[in-house]
Amino acid sequence: MDFALRIVAWQASHGRHGLPWQHTQDPYRIWLSEIMLQQTQVTTVIPYYQRFLERFPDVATLAAADQEAVMPYWAGLGYYARARNLHRCAQTIMSDWDGRFPPTAEQIATLPGIGRSTAAAIAAFAYGERSPILDGNVKRVFTRHFGVEGEPTRREVEQRLWELADAQVAEAPGLNMATYTQGLMDLGATLCTRGKPDCTRCPVADTCIARRDGRQSELPTPKARKAIPERQTGMLILQRDGAILLEQRPSPGIWGGLWSLPEFEAGGDPAQAARQLGLEPTQRYELAAFAHTFTHYRLHIKPWYLPVSQAAAIAEPTTPQRWASLAELPSLALPAPIRKLLEGLLEAGLPE
Ligand code: ADE
Repeated sequence: MDFALRIVAWQASHGRHGLPWQHTQDPYRIWLSEIMLQQTQVTTVIPYYQRFLERFPDVATLAAADQEAVMPYWAGLGYYARARNLHRCAQTIMSDWDGRFPPTAEQIATLPGIGRSTAAAIAAFAYGERSPILDGNVKRVFTRHFGVEGEPTRREVEQRLWELADAQVAEAPGLNMATYTQGLMDLGATLCTRGKPDCTRCPVADTCIARRDGRQSELPTPKARKAIPERQTGMLILQRDGAILLEQRPSPGIWGGLWSLPEFEAGGDPAQAARQLGLEPTQRYELAAFAHTFTHYRLHIKPWYLPVSQAAAIAEPTTPQRWASLAELPSLALPAPIRKLLEGLLEAGLPE
C-alpha cells in the first residue's frame, strides 16, 4: 500500500483524536493551534489554547485588541514573536482579506510569521487542500523512511524533502488530507521520535530505509554543534510599599513586550543601579543565581532583592515602568523564569 494510505489507516486506529483543535474546520482555531504548537508541546499548549479562545474567540476580536492585551495570554509559552505576528496577522486578515482567512495554502503563507509548512497544515485541516506539510518532525520521518542524507536545514536537502512530501500526496489521489497530515504529525511525535523510535509499531517500517539499515540514530544527519554563548546579567527586585518595580522589555527582542525586572551589568553594584533609577536601597539581599537558555544563548541571572525608598526624582525613564503589587503579578505578562523567581520569593516571604 502507498506510504500515505498506510499513514491514514494508522492515524485512524492509533493516532491522536481528542486534541482540542481537532474536529473543527474553523481556520482561526486551527491557525492558533498551529502557531502555539510550533515550538511548544501539546500538553503545555492545551490550557493556553483554551484560555486564548475564551478571550479572543474569533479573528475580529483578536484584531481589535491591543497587542498589550494579547501578551498576558501568551506569557509562559515563550517565543513571543509568535504572539506579535499572530496579532499582526489578525489585523492583516481584517484589512486585506475582508475578515476571512485566505482560501489557499499559498495565500496563507503570505501572512506574517506563517511559513510554507504551517500554511499547508492550516489549509489541509481547514479546507482539505492537497498541500503537504514538512515540519521538523516530518523531516525526521522522511529522512529516515526515504534514507535522505545531509542536514535537513540545508537548502538542497530541504528541497529533496519537499519533493518527497509532494510525491506522497500525488501518488494517493483520494487521500484524506486532514487525516494524513495529522497522521504524519502523530507518527513523528509518538513513534518516530528523535531518541528512541518505536519501529515495531510503525505503519511504514517495512519500507523504511533507516530501519532496514539499522541507521535510525544516524538519520536525520545531525547539525554540526556550535557551542552556545553564555551571557551574564544582574537583576533588581526593588520593593517599595509591597510593590515590585517592573520594566517593559523593548520589542522586538528577547521577551519583547513582556514585563521584566530592571537589569544591570553582572558584577556591578546593585545599590548603585537602584540609585540610577531614583531609588534608595535600605537593605540588600543577594539571591541564588540561575540560568535560562534561549535559542541563541544561555543567560546567567543573578538576582538581588532590595527594599527601597524613593530618592530624588529622576528624568523620564527610557523604558516603560510600573510598580506592580503582588496581587497584580498573576495577571501581568511576565517571562516564565521571572514569574517563577518572584513567586518563589513571595512564598519565602519578602524581608523588609
Ligand atoms: N503539532 C503541530 N501541529 C499539531 C497538531 N495539529 N496536533 C498535534 N501536534 C501538532
